[in-house]
Amino acid sequence: MLAIGSDHAGYPLKLEVIKHLEERNIEYKDYGCYSADSCDYAVFAEKTANAVASGECEKGLLFCGTGVGISIAANKVRGIRAACCSDEFSAEATRLHNDANILCLGARVVEPEKAIKLVDLFLDTEFSGEERHIRRIAQITDIENRFCK
Ligand code: RB5
Repeated sequence: MLAIGSDHAGYPLKLEVIKHLEERNIEYKDYGCYSADSCDYAVFAEKTANAVASGECEKGLLFCGTGVGISIAANKVRGIRAACCSDEFSAEATRLHNDANILCLGARVVEPEKAIKLVDLFLDTEFSGEERHIRRIAQITDIENRFCK
């Protein structure tokens, strides 16, 4: 199960990506928002990130205007590695190297066609499992453990 969420600015791109997920028969749960009315990205980042962190969903997709605000908020949830990407190389590398569990996209940055390519790369790429990447991710978790309650 894939968790998805957005604010109002990301909402139109989220709808485009949902169409694509449905074409691919990928199960998802939409944690809001549910309209283009102005709302606050941190609210939906938290709900979506929590679904991933709790194990209810395996991965997540988040959308806002830039992808940045919603990624910053999602990364405050313990266990979340949310990557804001706007190019194919990063969307693939963040799975291979960072084992990112949420992809964040900016609706005012990436066109829907490109966003869909990034989503597919993110969903279809496995973590490399290489020792140096495991070590670096463990260092991130260590920072989290020292700085977060
Ligand atoms: C909303 O206008 C916008 O600030 C938000 O979607 C996002 O881009 C924040 O980082």
